[in-house]
Amino acid sequence: MRKNPNHGPATRLVHAGRDPSEQHGFVNTPIYRGSTVLYPTYDAIKHRRGRYNYGTSATPTMDALTEAWTELAGAAGTVVTPSGLAALTVALMAAVSAGDHLLVTDSAYRPTRQFCDGVLKRFGVETTYYDPTIGAGIAALMRENTRAVLVEAPGSQSFEMQDIPAIAEVVHARGGTVIMDNTWATPLLFPPHERGVDIAVEAGTKYLSGGSDLLLGLTSANAKHFPAVRRTFDHFALCAGPEDIFLALRGLRTMNLRLREHGRAGLEMARWLQARPEVLRVLHPALPEDPGHAIWKRDFSGASGLFGVILKPCPEAALAAMLDGLELFGMGFSWGGFESLVIPFDCAPYRTATTWEPGGWALRFHIGLEEVADLKADLEAGFARLRAAS
Ligand SMILES: Cc1ncc(COP(=O)(O)O)c(C=O)c1O
Repeated sequence: MRKNPNHGPATRLVHAGRDPSEQHGFVNTPIYRGSTVLYPTYDAIKHRRGRYNYGTSATPTMDALTEAWTELAGAAGTVVTPSGLAALTVALMAAVSAGDHLLVTDSAYRPTRQFCDGVLKRFGVETTYYDPTIGAGIAALMRENTRAVLVEAPGSQSFEMQDIPAIAEVVHARGGTVIMDNTWATPLLFPPHERGVDIAVEAGTKYLSGGSDLLLGLTSANAKHFPAVRRTFDHFALCAGPEDIFLALRGLRTMNLRLREHGRAGLEMARWLQARPEVLRVLHPALPEDPGHAIWKRDFSGASGLFGVILKPCPEAALAAMLDGLELFGMGFSWGGFESLVIPFDCAPYRTATTWEPGGWALRFHIGLEEVADLKADLEAGFARLRAAS
């Protein structure tokens, strides 16, 4: 399909990265498995002529997804990795070197922190965590050797918004790189590179998959940073499996519809929870009462289905009674699939730049594609158990 700059994101999702005329008319790019790629002549192998050289670096299946994602994200290029965390590590390893200083939002996905405090530290990179709401105030934390700033908006547990254009302006003025974990919004709701992000990461495990049946990551970058991202990906040979990429392509074609429904149902559930007497606060940037609402409204075109709820203080046994009897909400990590999930969480043990004192038990909800009325009834029964055990 020829690229048409006038096409909207929904059209791009359907058509990007595939050309039926090259697949005997079949709509989808097939799964290419393989390590060896044969060259037709001595000259071709000597000069590595041809698009494909070896299975770790590129296959037509990989290209189908990376080309589509590049178009969707407004990037110069994308690599696809076996998990979202792997995509984050590629972004970080592409941006920093020994002796560099890195700034990471205190709200970052916890394994991102563990990578910074573990691997990056061992290789001579110092990480400082900052208050996610710092905005242009990040300037005060920038050092001579600050090479990169990692943002995540909203934080995937605590849901603080970040003023990414303001941060990007400061960081770019000092020659630094802005890396973003954009998993919550996807490029459909937040076009990262248009807003000043140099390297954007998506855990495709979540909304791209939509099925809770695969692990995958994508790292996209603008023209200045893609060569480093591509080199890092090649050095680690961090290639994803062809079946998983095929499943991700299948998810991509319907992601727009699913995301809208997750967002619509999520906001309805968030409003309903806000009105519950057992609830202290709802952490959801699309709610006007949320401290990050103005930034969300300015920079994002919608919300996904993940948000937080702080309960009014109650005994732990009452929380357990509520959660243990839920029929539709599963308790488990990850999110973005068709099924609703809830997890209890506590950011206090690992925060270093900010404190986490929510005032009650914290729950993270992912609203799936069930009927909202059924989800409310499940929680209604849960709140009744909570009250009975309080
Ligand atoms: C915000 C965020 N980023 C990245 C990841 C990592 O994705 P994966 O599980 O594919 O490694 C997750 C996973 O939960 C996440 O929530």
